[in-house]
Amino acid sequence: MPGLEVVMLRLAGTVVSAAAKAVLAPRPGAGLVPAPLRPLPKTASPDRLAKVLGQRLTEAYGSLPEHERTAAVDAVRDGFTAAGELDAERLFALALDPDRLAAELRRPHPGPGESLYEELLTLCCAHCVEQLTAHPSFAARAAVKQARSADAARELIEDVRDRVGPRPEAAALAFEEKYARYVEQTHSRLELFGLTLGRSASEWPLDTAYIGLAVSGEPRQAVGLPHARVATVSAEQALAGTDRLLLRGPAGSGKSTLVQWLALNAARRSFGAELADWNRCVPFVLRLRAFTAAESLPLPQEFLRAAGVPLSPAPGWAESLLAEGRALILVDGVDEVPMRLRARTEAWLKSLVTAFPRARYVVTTRPSAVSEDWLAGRGFVAHSLLPMEREDVRAFVAHWHDSARLACPAPDERARLDAYEQSLLTAVSSRRDLGRLATNPLMCALLCALNRDRRMQLPRARKELYDAALDMLLVRRDTEREITGVEGVTLTRDEQTALLQRLAY
Ligand SMILES: Nc1ncnc2c1ncn2[C@@H]1O[C@H](COP(=O)(O)OP(=O)(O)OP(=O)(O)O)[C@@H](O)[C@H]1O
Ligand SMILES: [Mg+2]
Repeated sequence: MPGLEVVMLRLAGTVVSAAAKAVLAPRPGAGLVPAPLRPLPKTASPDRLAKVLGQRLTEAYGSLPEHERTAAVDAVRDGFTAAGELDAERLFALALDPDRLAAELRRPHPGPGESLYEELLTLCCAHCVEQLTAHPSFAARAAVKQARSADAARELIEDVRDRVGPRPEAAALAFEEKYARYVEQTHSRLELFGLTLGRSASEWPLDTAYIGLAVSGEPRQAVGLPHARVATVSAEQALAGTDRLLLRGPAGSGKSTLVQWLALNAARRSFGAELADWNRCVPFVLRLRAFTAAESLPLPQEFLRAAGVPLSPAPGWAESLLAEGRALILVDGVDEVPMRLRARTEAWLKSLVTAFPRARYVVTTRPSAVSEDWLAGRGFVAHSLLPMEREDVRAFVAHWHDSARLACPAPDERARLDAYEQSLLTAVSSRRDLGRLATNPLMCALLCALNRDRRMQLPRARKELYDAALDMLLVRRDTEREITGVEGVTLTRDEQTALLQRLAY
């Protein structure tokens, strides 16, 4: 069958010359100079390849009609011709992998000749790469290429390592994982603190209940101007902008909950794109009120014990996280520190940021406790949690009822919750007194709970409503949390009410 032999020889010629070009042109040798002095080696003869291919053809595809065989051979050749010059760069880019070369050259060849086409293509690609790698100039070129890419890889690794820090030891990583699971379990539920109202569950999954809150966009703006329009950003945006944040917000505005949310997301590594870098951080939640009775504030090695975590890390574990910038230090409630201990708290924070400048810090406080530029000299940026807008309130009510439904096994009660939700949404948008009350998460939570507890009969009289609110906001909440008034003086409810009225006025 001289016809087939001719096409086969043509195919082999095409393949061989494609590979020959790859090694000979445009830059032979290691490819370092355009016109090398060394004579160029000769191109391999296509005869041997044609013979190998021809053998396969007669052995395995003898029964295939000749025109099918010719078509398959021509199709493979067309692929090589269309691909043009297979220069070395191109083959290096394919990692010298014949299969990847075949994938690049392959085009559909349906019909009886399909498997012949596949086999020829595979053989030709393998041969092409083989010829390139066997060529005397190849070793030199590959060595140069490899040295360069190793160099590039090393630079990349150094760059990444600079940013990520050294790789923690396996034991440290295992501990980190154990601690993360602990934080996840202890922080995944939202406490409706103070809501000791009848039927309402006192704990819900934070995921369902949590709503994103807004803070003042420009630091040092919102304080004292709750109704002025100020630029707002999400708490996440504010956090993304700084490594040291002083988060200010009045009672019940969601500071402690945000701290908990940050700890939970760090432990789960579930921050979104905006805070993606925070997913590398290990959270340390330090509630300042817990240290009031302690002799001194905790050092990094004491962080876990101080936070009541019953896990003991190896010595130096926390310290190296802080030093490497992989620690998220969450300090909650500067206002909960009695006045006489404020100076020591300030000194403690200053010494931490001095010793561990790469760690991230979020410090929360009610606005009355410290001025806005507190710690500004240490690079802290202040943002204030803003009063909730109408949309936030609606979102809150929706999330609250979602959580309640989730926690509620009885289908009829779940149906009732739908009705409670609708009636409350209507009430907050139609009753001004409710609208004015519902400006922070705590008050929203109270309204939701009252509404459910009283089966949609929210107190009509303003006084009664405020009484119920105050009851929770002042007495229950603070006594449950064992907060005493300023400087150890406990205020009675009447005194607190009077105080609050004056503040409100
Ligand atoms: N982002 C939020 N999403 C849903 N609910 C929230 C959110 N923030 C706060 N809450 C609800 O409001 C309650 C009070 O919030 P939180 O304790 O965080 O306020 P706070 O600013 O820390 O108050 P304080 O100054 O009294 O410590 C929470 O128990 C929770 O029920
Ligand atoms: Mg708090």
